[in-house]
Amino acid sequence: MPAVIQRNVLENPGWYTAYTPYQAEIAQGRLEALLNFQQVCIDLTGLELAGASLLDEATAAAEAMAMSKRVSKSKSTQFFVDDRIYPQTLDVINTRAKYFGWEVVVGDFELAKSGDYFGALFQYVGVEGDVKDLTDVIAAVKKNKTYVSVVSDIMSLVLLKSPADMGADVALGSTQRFGIPMGFGGPHAAYFAFSDKAKRSAPGRIIGVSKDSQGNTALRMALQTREQHIRREKANSNICTSQVLLANLAGMYAVYHGPGGVKRIATRIHAFATAFADVIKNANDSNLNVVHDQFFDSVVVDCGSEKLATQIFENADNVGYNLWRLGETKLSVAFSETSDQQDFSVLTQLFVSKAHDLPEDARVSLDSAHLRTDAILSHPVFNSHHTEHEMLRYLKSLEDKDLAMNRSMISLGSCTMKLNATSEMLPITWPEFANVHPFAPRDQVTGYVAMIDSLQDQLKAITGFDDVSMQPNSGASGEYAGLLAIRRYHESLGETDRDVCLIPQSAHGTNPATAMMMGMKVIVVKTDDNGNVDIDDLTAKCEENSANLGALMITYPSTHGVFEEGIRKICDLIHKHGGQVYMDGANMNAQVGMMQPADVGADVLHMNLHKTFCIPHGGGGPGMGLSA
Ligand SMILES: Cc1ncc(COP(=O)(O)O)c(C=O)c1O
Repeated sequence: MPAVIQRNVLENPGWYTAYTPYQAEIAQGRLEALLNFQQVCIDLTGLELAGASLLDEATAAAEAMAMSKRVSKSKSTQFFVDDRIYPQTLDVINTRAKYFGWEVVVGDFELAKSGDYFGALFQYVGVEGDVKDLTDVIAAVKKNKTYVSVVSDIMSLVLLKSPADMGADVALGSTQRFGIPMGFGGPHAAYFAFSDKAKRSAPGRIIGVSKDSQGNTALRMALQTREQHIRREKANSNICTSQVLLANLAGMYAVYHGPGGVKRIATRIHAFATAFADVIKNANDSNLNVVHDQFFDSVVVDCGSEKLATQIFENADNVGYNLWRLGETKLSVAFSETSDQQDFSVLTQLFVSKAHDLPEDARVSLDSAHLRTDAILSHPVFNSHHTEHEMLRYLKSLEDKDLAMNRSMISLGSCTMKLNATSEMLPITWPEFANVHPFAPRDQVTGYVAMIDSLQDQLKAITGFDDVSMQPNSGASGEYAGLLAIRRYHESLGETDRDVCLIPQSAHGTNPATAMMMGMKVIVVKTDDNGNVDIDDLTAKCEENSANLGALMITYPSTHGVFEEGIRKICDLIHKHGGQVYMDGANMNAQVGMMQPADVGADVLHMNLHKTFCIPHGGGGPGMGLSA
């Protein structure tokens, strides 16, 4: 990450303590930063619109599947997934599809032509690093009314033909490569780009250019998923918090480097990979084969035998390099912006027993048919701030337009905002935390694991629950994970038709949206003027739905900030009818030290660590919605 961005955005409370920009008049700075991010995504994907970030690549892919179903005219309930997808992405897609009632078909990308699918998802740069032109397959599947999404690493798109050029309807992926540390798996902003005509079906928030009351240009959240508050269980998705701070960082990376800078960086990464592949090919070692001829940054080498692959893999580990083992005989070597001559020497030594220098004439080996020829990042903002002081002044000018917790209380919404302590924020930019790969071998991450374990223990003590999942990236994802646990619990008892979810009128919009995504039937329970659940109405609805009662989702303290006095009675009632109590503890800090959710009868809970405890709100993310 460029130091000027690290110091003035990531390490600056003016940026990391801001609230979601619901009040446009105190948020023009971060709205402009998000608009820049959207423009980066629009330029690189070639599509007409982009959102202001999603949570991560895998959930963005699952959102693309759901959007395909909303937009596609096909009646099919099958979704096609390219088998060159990353396994973690496929896992999330499979879970989501199951509860929507759709079938996922995974296969060679060419096979998509022969089926009947409402949507298809292709990986562009495949899991083995291979670059394949998707133009023909996309044209063929679109004849069948299949809505097409393409997953791409944002850095690869600096060089490669854009997804829109190949006919894609949606493009998505991670923007981690735009200067964001790996951080043992995140947070990183996912991007999500789409066509103008699909904008009302897109998940997440979109920043739009508008006019203020005096007719001046002003920015605001245009189509935000706060529409969940209106559409409730008919909402398009449950995405609320996204990855604003990370999106701003990635957008600023493009502002700072500009089109020339990012092209230089992407070309250098590719040149490293090309030079490495050339060394393997020229070694004339009949054991070693470069598996794919067209790649961007990753070279897969088939070592011919499991023994040789193991030997190289272990030798690499011994000298501090993690290779990716693909099957028994193949190893993947990936280059990045941080790769250097020393890395090149060590890696070539490991594979061909001779250290090579990066050649002077390091080259682009991709066929010209794969390369993009259109201009990118031509907006003035990407061509004006390339020196450190210009960049610093630009960042400061945006920060000064905004109100964040470093200046004032934010008197808006039910969100319990807090000013993070500097000492909590300091370690996130230490290289020991920042530069750990999410799939690093377990023995390299014992520190991280110990920290997570001890946080889990503390949260178990605070909530009174038996276990905690740290996976969900936002409150809404915590709701999804929690309702999933409830559905699986009922399934384990053979009670698969417990699919009714009771939700009080006053609940946060993500609650009904999440229940819908879990394939549940939402029934609204009345609340009184203070936001308390109407117990008579709840009793009647429990009785009516006793055989199918799956869950009650109850916010505690409620959206009105009320501690429901009848909470124990409510939990007992739900249990009596065979349901489970889901507690939305987004604002759980109001309870900490006073009571435990498990004690009053809740079965599952999520809490928003970006409100309670010390994850900075970041202007609308990163979030952390762990499920207990
Ligand atoms: C009560 C409540 N539930 C759920 C959420 C959703 O959390 P997130 O925005 O992290 O998805 C929020 C946040 O706005 C909330 O206030």
